[in-house]
Amino acid sequence: MNSSGCTDVIDPELPAPLPPSAWKSLHTQWARLRAIDVPALFGLDPQRFERLSHTHDGLLLDFSKQRIDPTALESLLGLARAAGLERGVEALFGARPLNFTENRAALHMALRGGCEAPPAERPGLHATEQGLRTFAERVRGGAHRGASGEPIGLVVNLGIGGSDLGPRMVVEALSPSSPGNGPDVRFVANPDPLELDSVLAEASPHTTLFIISSKSFGTAETLANAETARTWLRAGLGLNTGLGPHLAAVSNAVDAARGFGIPEEHIFPLPEWVGGRYSVWSAIGLPARIALGNPAFDALLDGGRSIDRHFREAPLERNLPVLLGLIGIWNASIADIGTLALLPYSHALRSLPAWLQQLEMESNGKHCRRDGTPTPVATAPVIWGGAGTVGQHAFHQLLYQGTRAVAVDFVVPVNGSDPRSRMLVDNALAQSSALMCGRTLAAATEELRVKRGLNAEETARLAPHLACAGNQPSTTLLLPQLTPYRLGQLMALYEHKVFVQGWLWGINSFDQYGVELGKDMARALASGREDSADPSTAGLLAAAQAMRQQP
Ligand code: F6P
Repeated sequence: MNSSGCTDVIDPELPAPLPPSAWKSLHTQWARLRAIDVPALFGLDPQRFERLSHTHDGLLLDFSKQRIDPTALESLLGLARAAGLERGVEALFGARPLNFTENRAALHMALRGGCEAPPAERPGLHATEQGLRTFAERVRGGAHRGASGEPIGLVVNLGIGGSDLGPRMVVEALSPSSPGNGPDVRFVANPDPLELDSVLAEASPHTTLFIISSKSFGTAETLANAETARTWLRAGLGLNTGLGPHLAAVSNAVDAARGFGIPEEHIFPLPEWVGGRYSVWSAIGLPARIALGNPAFDALLDGGRSIDRHFREAPLERNLPVLLGLIGIWNASIADIGTLALLPYSHALRSLPAWLQQLEMESNGKHCRRDGTPTPVATAPVIWGGAGTVGQHAFHQLLYQGTRAVAVDFVVPVNGSDPRSRMLVDNALAQSSALMCGRTLAAATEELRVKRGLNAEETARLAPHLACAGNQPSTTLLLPQLTPYRLGQLMALYEHKVFVQGWLWGINSFDQYGVELGKDMARALASGREDSADPSTAGLLAAAQAMRQQP
């Protein structure tokens, strides 16, 4: 450990983080490009779209609307080479302990066949996978019965963070287009009783199965919900023991799960080397297997594997996750754009921003590099967003006429299952175009004068309010349609993007020590150690206590 609390370079064979001077040429490129009008770049280079869009296995990634040109992109690729990115990718797939603060590999790709799992673990992984398949099929098909012999009609996943966001998003995205009539699958993450109570209000304990999803089986919020669920089952079934048919767990703390009363055969472990936010491919995907069926889940894994292969094999300049990562670095670290809006033009993908929020912000919201020094540039942006086209009528105003640059990713499945969804594609493309092109004062004046027939005075008064600066940078990802395979590609694409960025920033994308600080504080307050609170928090605690005592 060094004075910053980080381990020194873990693996002497891996390249050291980039020196601050390595970033200089990018700052020079940005000084050249910052005042350039993006639409004008298309005039200078009629092949710009072809040059700055790339395809792989049905996906199209276009970043021609970014404030970048091929020369600056070449500098970014140079940075990636200087950082030894290709060696980093091999180290990732080769199970090197890149999560060096916890001395672990990050091998989630092994769960989708994107690389090998450690040989000693393969039999156990295989057995867990078989168990998951069988259990999911039995629950889905009605063979698995509750304590009173009825089939399961409702599955409730109790988990938070990575034990919720991934499977929740997958189920939400794919259920509308999935055949079959398995049980209803719901997700509860919040320890606010309102969330679980509202699900239980419509449920019967005789036909409900809870999956307690917690890698650690130690997350206070999940355990609080699990307690509530167990109490509800006991009361509703009139049983003190024998709740086994209604309980399953996904956890590698097998003893703790067993101690909670979950039958051995319903406990599905996940390996240590799978981080929570990368865990949907593991047993954490159980609710998705039940909701969608094993074949759909297999197709999700296939899609992820297709991106693994591409990420490992494609040259950097045609490598989709690499390019997505480099563009993100250009915006966040060089152009000083501190926020990325993720706009999936699909109701089914409405939870994609929440999933990406954890993936990017928990992975790369850090500043301590492998050698313990702080990063010389800004790292992960603030990720936010929501389903297009709804956001257009809420927050897009700021994108057009606000005072901040905001980077945008448009994610657009082209063929919705319903032909009426064509409007979404049109809207996504119109938004990306309008954000880039903007509306000049002259165009606004012309519109008011010619189209609206206003006089000169009115036109001059209103025109500045209609003008939009344009040049808001966006990337567009087109997917042919939203199938399990395509969703697998999409998720793996962003996972590897995060790796690329973490590698160039020189940070560990696979730990989350910051989160622990808040957990420690919550534990201290919950155990009545108010004396450890700062004066503001102590004041608030006292005020909350007083409010509790008011009628
Ligand atoms: O608090 C953050 C976190 O550790 C995430 O990284 C993780 O996905 C989540 O909590 C849930 O953890 P667990 O699966 O152990 O309950």
